[in-house]
Parts: sequence; C-alpha cells; structure tokens
Amino acid sequence: MTAPPLPVLIDCDPGIDDAVMLMMALAAPGLDVRSVTAVAGNVPLRLTSRNARMICELMGRSDVPVYAGCPRPMLREPVTAEDFHGETGISGLDVFEPDRPLAPAHGVADLIARLRAAAPGSLTLIITGPMTNLACALVMDPGIAAGVREVVIMGGADVAGGNITPQAEFNIFADPHAAAIVFDSGLPVTVLSLDVTHQVRAEPARIARLRSLGTQNALRMAGLLGAANQLEGRWRPGMNAPMHDPSTIAWLLAPEIFQSKAARVRTITRPGKSFGRTAVREAKSGPHRWVTHADADAFFALIEGLMQDTP
Ligand code: RIB
Ligand code: CA
Repeated sequence: MTAPPLPVLIDCDPGIDDAVMLMMALAAPGLDVRSVTAVAGNVPLRLTSRNARMICELMGRSDVPVYAGCPRPMLREPVTAEDFHGETGISGLDVFEPDRPLAPAHGVADLIARLRAAAPGSLTLIITGPMTNLACALVMDPGIAAGVREVVIMGGADVAGGNITPQAEFNIFADPHAAAIVFDSGLPVTVLSLDVTHQVRAEPARIARLRSLGTQNALRMAGLLGAANQLEGRWRPGMNAPMHDPSTIAWLLAPEIFQSKAARVRTITRPGKSFGRTAVREAKSGPHRWVTHADADAFFALIEGLMQDTP
C-alpha cells in the first residue's frame, strides 16, 4: 500500500539552488505541493517571487499558487547573494514573465490560514531561504504550530564553518532574528546545514549524466547547475556548487541516504563576529534534528530518477 503524497508548503528565495529544489519537489509523486511562498533573500522579493512562478510554469505546475511574503528581514539590514545566483537570481535560465500572476494574499497570511485549517501535525514546511515568513507567522499567531508535522530547512553551519562570514551561513545570517524565533518556538526543525550540503556537489560528471537523460527538465536542471558551478568557481576556484536547497527534498523523499542526530540549535543574534552563527548542542529530547552526512551518489540517483520521469 503506497503512502499518500506528503502535503508540503514551500518557502524559498529562488536562487539557482532553490529553483533546482522546486523542480524536484514539483516532479516528485511523493510530495503534494500545496503552495509556494517567496521571501527576499538571494535577490529582492520582486525577483524571487517571479522566479518561483517561472519554475512552476516550466514544470507544468501552474496549479500551485505562488505568494509573495516578506520583502525584508525582521530587524537587520537586507543582504543579497547576486554573486552566486546572478542579477536575475536564476542564472542558467532565460527569464520570462509567467502567465499565472502572484496569488493575491500576503505569503505570511496564507501560511497562517493554511496552518490554521490543517489537521494537527499534518503539514510539512520546507524553507530554503531566510526564515522571515514563518517567524512572522509564529509571532502573529503562535497557535499555527499545531498544524506542523515537520519544518525542514536549509541553513546554518557547525563544523563546516560559514559561507557569508567565517562563522555564518547565508540563510541564517540574512535574518538571524527570524531563525531565533523559529528555533526557539519548539517546532520540530530538521536542519540541512553546510555540514551536509558541502558533501554533495554538482560535479561535472553528475551534470553530464543529467544531460544524457535528454528530457527537457533534465536539460534545464543541467543548465542551472552548470551556471551555479560557473558562479561558485569565480569566488571559490576549483569548487563545484553544493546542492544546498535540493537537500531538503532529498531528506523528505529518501531519509535513508542521510545520517542525523537529535539536537538543540540556537542562533547567535548579538553583534560581532559570531552574528548569524548556529550553535548546535546534541540533545536526545531535540526538538531539532541536525543532519550530519549524505550519500552523494544516492542523492544524484534520486534526482536523475525524478528528472527521468518528467517531460
Ligand atoms: O547558504 C546557502 C543558502 O543561501 C541557499 O539557500 C542559497 O539559495 C542561499 O539562499
Ligand atoms: Ca535559497
């Protein structure tokens, strides 16, 4: 008896790797993507929300509503990452104006409405950008936590060190106060940090295997990963792009390819060199789960399977 598709709400800041994550999620028979909310992050909200709509249209999934959420972090000044995603936020794809407009509600209001209407513990949230939208929703209506099954985020770093400062990872650094609200809420948050995403990189041989599948979406994804490698290599010569945001989907579809530990994660919000760092303590009672290892070959086999089965 096959389990019914897992209902998920996706919150992201496309972003090349967010786009790859969305392609995987929208192609996966095991996921029921109920909504996509965009947040300011890699590039401004105007672009992240347009890019999210573009991917939904390219994947033939204009049935999925895309909402614009928060246009800036809760407290700190905005920070962006065009260096790694291009000025459009989605290098590797020719941009266009999608047919379906943004859904009319504010993304935070929609998150609250969906979580309020959900059966207890029924909805999985996937967050691959700054956690501003969920943090605002929790402040506005703490009772929404009852509808959450799991929050799966890409963010943070412990042993790997940071990527925007020596200690901080971009998604947390871009809105550490939001991250603190989410981590301190007691919600069951599974963290795919740099500790694990740096173990899975878009090696040229893996991109070539994707390209050899020949499907339109496999070719599109290969183009995105090729662009990600070009930008990564400009700032980190010889390094291929880590599969940051796609790791959230791989966790949900194939948790067996990962190793993890129960933990308590805190965010450093005091000014100084640790600003935006994630402090990780092993804790049997959780409520968080810190993913430590991934099988990179199994990870890409999963992606190839998803891209093989789409047009
Ligand atoms: O540090 C990597 C994260 O920051 C990814 O989510 C990438 O899209 C950027 O948002
Ligand atoms: Ca992202």
